[in-house]
Amino acid sequence: MSVVDTGDLWWKTAIIYCLDVETYMDWNGDGTGDFDGLAHRLDYLAELGVTCIWLMPFYPTPGRDDGYDIVDFYGVDSRYGNFGDFVEVMRIAKARGLRVIVDLVINHTSDQHPWFVSARADRQSPFRDFYVWRDEPPLRQGEPVFPDQERSSWQLDQGTGQYYQHVFYKEQPDLNVVNPAVRDEIAKIIGFWVQLGVSGFRVDAVPFLLDTAGVSGGAGLPDPHQYLAALRSFLGRRVGDAALLGEVNLSREDQERFFGGAEGDELTMQFDFISMQNLYLSLARHDAAPLIAALQSRPQGSPDVQWANFVRNHDELTLDKLTDGERAEVFAAFGPEKRMQVYGRGLVRRLPPMLGGDQRRIRFVYSLLFSMPGTPVLFYGEEIGMGENLEREGRMAVRTPMQWNGGRNGGFSNAEGSPLIDAIVDGDFGPAKVNVENQLRDPDSLLSFIKKLIEQYRAAPELGWGTFELLAQPNPSVMAHTLAWDGGRVLMLHNFAEDPVETRISVPGLVPESSLRDLFTDETIEISGGADGYEVAVLLEGYGFRWLRNVLGGDVRRY
Ligand code: GLC
Repeated sequence: MSVVDTGDLWWKTAIIYCLDVETYMDWNGDGTGDFDGLAHRLDYLAELGVTCIWLMPFYPTPGRDDGYDIVDFYGVDSRYGNFGDFVEVMRIAKARGLRVIVDLVINHTSDQHPWFVSARADRQSPFRDFYVWRDEPPLRQGEPVFPDQERSSWQLDQGTGQYYQHVFYKEQPDLNVVNPAVRDEIAKIIGFWVQLGVSGFRVDAVPFLLDTAGVSGGAGLPDPHQYLAALRSFLGRRVGDAALLGEVNLSREDQERFFGGAEGDELTMQFDFISMQNLYLSLARHDAAPLIAALQSRPQGSPDVQWANFVRNHDELTLDKLTDGERAEVFAAFGPEKRMQVYGRGLVRRLPPMLGGDQRRIRFVYSLLFSMPGTPVLFYGEEIGMGENLEREGRMAVRTPMQWNGGRNGGFSNAEGSPLIDAIVDGDFGPAKVNVENQLRDPDSLLSFIKKLIEQYRAAPELGWGTFELLAQPNPSVMAHTLAWDGGRVLMLHNFAEDPVETRISVPGLVPESSLRDLFTDETIEISGGADGYEVAVLLEGYGFRWLRNVLGGDVRRY
């Protein structure tokens, strides 16, 4: 007898839920979400079944970049409560079996951070070298990340007559990690939060953090990846099973490097931006091929690292890795109006409005999300099918308050009014129609469906750990894949087309005299001997999906 041993690598089978304390739940009635509100919603999250919460930045901030501009790495912004409230959330989360990871934004600070205030006051400041300065901006510059807001990544500081680097907004000067004092500070920040019980970090803008080419005189880090490995190793020494979930929207080759190649000693997890973008292309074309190709292009790295799959996040739905023509197709299908697009590369919409509220198709997409090899990441509100508010500026469109019920302010706050309350979504996707309370009571709601997916994901360790194989079959609209691990095997089928298809698939590795059980309907599908192994014939509805587990009659281990 053996108990399945997944070691301490919890991120291999996690379900991550991203939320912003600011927009989640306002408990003190001031119109802004707070830690106390989140504390009161941890039961909801535990009940939903997610295993890890990712908290977007909650540190003191002037708010130029919605909290990604930090003035104190060791603080909690007073609008959300105080450290006591934070620790209380950590305590309750732990008691509910929920891990917490927090955003680690160390590529830059706010321009109001005391380091930068000092650095720009005087060239002799002890903090001058915490940032990246030049007499003249480099001749060759990449495009700024927010091209509609900034024309350059270098800003002249009038007072001291030099330019500082800022790959994001000019109010976010880049830290200089070539400076050992900065690296020490970063280690201290990491050490601080893990001491408070977090299980790791979502590391913001990793490639920019490691890009030290802007440092004058070519004095960048000789091997930036060595630095990332050192950070990971430091974290591991502090807390053995802490994880780094990195934001790396680069090519597969680069992503492999950010995992630390075969060693797997850099980032523990990376978002799969490439599959996410190709998922939308597949949706637009009703053709499984783009997503299949993206999944096939994943590098084979260390078995200990993990892909974080996602459908939407708090930023624009970036389509920067598609060709211009492909991007135009996705824009035409899901965001044809100018106000739905941003930076020339992305969409500021949530999934349900992009799919015209089509429940079949929305569920199809979440079925895919949970059945792709890796760890699924949800952005708050996805579980109930929230929409966006296109009246809000740029990426803020998708960062509207959580919709708890159909009452006043969507149950988010009791306040009379506040800028966030004004941001609450209107119309078909607003709280009157889309809210947690109604969906909790309805067994056919999206929320109930997502819960079911989570349950099945948790019962199928193959999804996080398994060997992934795409299966050949004749329908271009179908993706068929299996995941096998520790004697278990699941077969996943997804039909990107609007019309039903019948498909006959030969599935390697099926156990003779076994059958396939549909994990959602309980139906049993018989398998028959075919030329190349065992074959199954399956009917898929339009936008249909099947999760089939290979079961042996008498095997009580798998269900
Ligand atoms: C990341 C965040 C984004 C933020 C930027 C700068 O891309 O996801 O929201 O604006 O970093 O910190």
